Amino acid sequence: MKITLSAIKADVGSVGGHNKPSQRLTQAIKDHVENEGKKKGLLIDYKVFTAGDDNFIIMSHTKGVDYPDIHKLAWDAFVKGTQVAKEQGLYGAGQDLLKTAFSGNVRGMGPSSAEMEFEERPSEPFIVFMCDKTDPGVFNYPLYRGFADPFHNAGLILAPEMDAGFEYTVMDVNYTEADKVITLKVPEEQYQLGVLLRDPEHYVIESIHSRATKDQAAVVSTSRLHNIAGKYTGKDDPVAIVRSQKMFPSTGEILSPYATAHYVVGDNRGSHNIALMPCKLGSIISYFDGPAIVTAAGICIHNGIMTEAIDLFDQPFWDYVRNKAAEKSYGLREQGFFGSAMAPMEELEYTGVMETLAKLDKKFTVREKK
Ligand code: F6R
Ligand code: MG
Ligand code: MG
Repeated sequence: MKITLSAIKADVGSVGGHNKPSQRLTQAIKDHVENEGKKKGLLIDYKVFTAGDDNFIIMSHTKGVDYPDIHKLAWDAFVKGTQVAKEQGLYGAGQDLLKTAFSGNVRGMGPSSAEMEFEERPSEPFIVFMCDKTDPGVFNYPLYRGFADPFHNAGLILAPEMDAGFEYTVMDVNYTEADKVITLKVPEEQYQLGVLLRDPEHYVIESIHSRATKDQAAVVSTSRLHNIAGKYTGKDDPVAIVRSQKMFPSTGEILSPYATAHYVVGDNRGSHNIALMPCKLGSIISYFDGPAIVTAAGICIHNGIMTEAIDLFDQPFWDYVRNKAAEKSYGLREQGFFGSAMAPMEELEYTGVMETLAKLDKKFTVREKK
């Protein structure tokens, strides 16, 4: 059976500051998807999660990717969530709904989407990764290590199904006129791939396919809010769907790169470097409006119907990684705003530094040469 998985997410308001949506808000989103999507037969199944201040709607259906009614369903659900956020006086009500009227697809309108269509295998395990306080380049490192680096993932040399390697599609997210993408094959083009992926705010993995079977393994939401709006409107807080097992890396091989707690851009005011902390599903945001978090739901889908989600970072091993991430992050935070503690200039999400620099520039004087 050919099935489409659509993950569409948005931040439309939260309790505290930018910490977690209220229960009523998330319930309003669920109710809308249940009544207008599942009960009316548009969806086969769905799940709604939160990570930090974002809501993630995961839908299964047979309509293919970019199907307007599916995108409208999610958009309208976020509008309903926004109404609740306004009624409750939540912070940042409607923050990610940048346009007033829906026009066929959530892309370019604030919410992010990651969708993939595939022929369901007899058993179809997949992982939904959901982040807060960071941008979509967050997945460059773990998806490189999981699908291209045999030193990390020995499965790539152990399993004959993966011998042919994988094909990465990478997007230049600074190009805003249209989708600008390149496809690179590993292992042959692994170094070239590395050249792009080392710059995760500019080049972002969009998808990965198996070269042996042509099956799609992964899809990432690639939108950059600050490129869409031209100003700070919050971080993108991306979502990725990754299929696992057999011709793909195992669930454990896909999860294990997160044990690095790699440094990403995000955290408070979207303007800092921070170690990514793998957290339990539904985690809130706390220390320094962070840290940047990733959560992971493990699910099997059969005839479009999803099992319950298991919480893949809710296991004692990840307590060690969470402590390590806290130590790595604190190591940077102790350095305040100096050097590598802060994000590079073009990623600073607030204009204060730029405005002050412009004022100071006028006061600089150039000494005459003697
Ligand atoms: C980061 C984020 C927060 C806010 C910060 C200030 O993505 O959402 O760290 O940037 O709380 O928020 P405002 O400008 O709304 O007061
Ligand atoms: Mg937010
Ligand atoms: Mg967020």
